[in-house]
Amino acid sequence: MKLPRQFFQPLAIGAPAPMRELPVRLERMIHFVPPHMEKMRAKAPELAKTVDVVLGNLEDAIPVEAKEAARKGFIEMGQSVDFGPTGLWTRINALNSPWALDDITEIVGTIGNKLDVIMLPKVDGPWDIHYLDQLLAQLEARHKIEKPILIHAILETAQGVNNVEAIATASPRMHGMSLGPADLAASRAMKTTRVGGGHPEYKVLADADGDKPRATSQQDLWHYTTAKMVDACAAARIKPFYGPFGDFSDAAACESQFRNSFLLGCVGAWTLHPSQIAIAKKVYAPDPAEVAFAQKIVSSMPDGAGAVMIDGKMQDDATWKQAKVLIDLAKLVAAKDPEMGERYGL
Ligand code: GLV
Ligand code: MG
Repeated sequence: MKLPRQFFQPLAIGAPAPMRELPVRLERMIHFVPPHMEKMRAKAPELAKTVDVVLGNLEDAIPVEAKEAARKGFIEMGQSVDFGPTGLWTRINALNSPWALDDITEIVGTIGNKLDVIMLPKVDGPWDIHYLDQLLAQLEARHKIEKPILIHAILETAQGVNNVEAIATASPRMHGMSLGPADLAASRAMKTTRVGGGHPEYKVLADADGDKPRATSQQDLWHYTTAKMVDACAAARIKPFYGPFGDFSDAAACESQFRNSFLLGCVGAWTLHPSQIAIAKKVYAPDPAEVAFAQKIVSSMPDGAGAVMIDGKMQDDATWKQAKVLIDLAKLVAAKDPEMGERYGL
């Protein structure tokens, strides 16, 4: 085990010191761009004004023959576009692929000072994070990168789920984690063919009552993993995200999947299609009525201690802390979105 005093030491001479706290940033959606397509790259300047994070995808969904073009296109996009306060991320290819090493070395060597986060797919355990952590420190030193590039792991293998706590705490470079339901379904041999969302056959059946038709209720296939991921991330003070929702034609199901994750503690999700951006904006910002109630709690208990009744409901130190979570998030949203700020009365 690495000793506490060494945990925050740079891993290479000349690399920037690891961050002790994550930067405070609103990251409601991580918007995926296929950077080998010029038409998509051309939209990046406008896109950067509407989303919280722009991610150049180099991994799955990019055809093998376009892997190099995607990497080059991402670098070109990073060099030419001013992303302002919007995050610039990339999802590199898996560490066991023929492309990962060049993805990392070429991107850090060219746009390392603009890159905020590397999303690492197929993470099985802390060893994957340690490898990337060390390599990034060497490259940061070589290329005089000023702030550490963070790592975001995709939780999408059964082994990764088993090791989720060790992954979350593997390095001070850890930004957070996203649930990858498509690869995870395959890794677990789940009997589905979907990218996230529910399944009509995963349901509970009400008890039999004579000949009456028995009600069924569809259950959330991702509840267990999301909750496990949220606990691992919250304990490590890093950020949990729901990942992709593949059925672009079903906005209601996408919203419901995103909302379940938000209520459980996730801070955002991936948007693979422009129609999902508005859904993520709506879901990953607290409801103004909830924020108003949270403000009532905080103003009735200014020092956050004791107990009061509001509208017949007991409030105490714990609900005060829940209220603070909602208000802090509402303030972050309001700072970026004046219209929401007005709805929150902030
Ligand atoms: C995402 O990468 C997934 O596999 O769901
Ligand atoms: Mg995947």
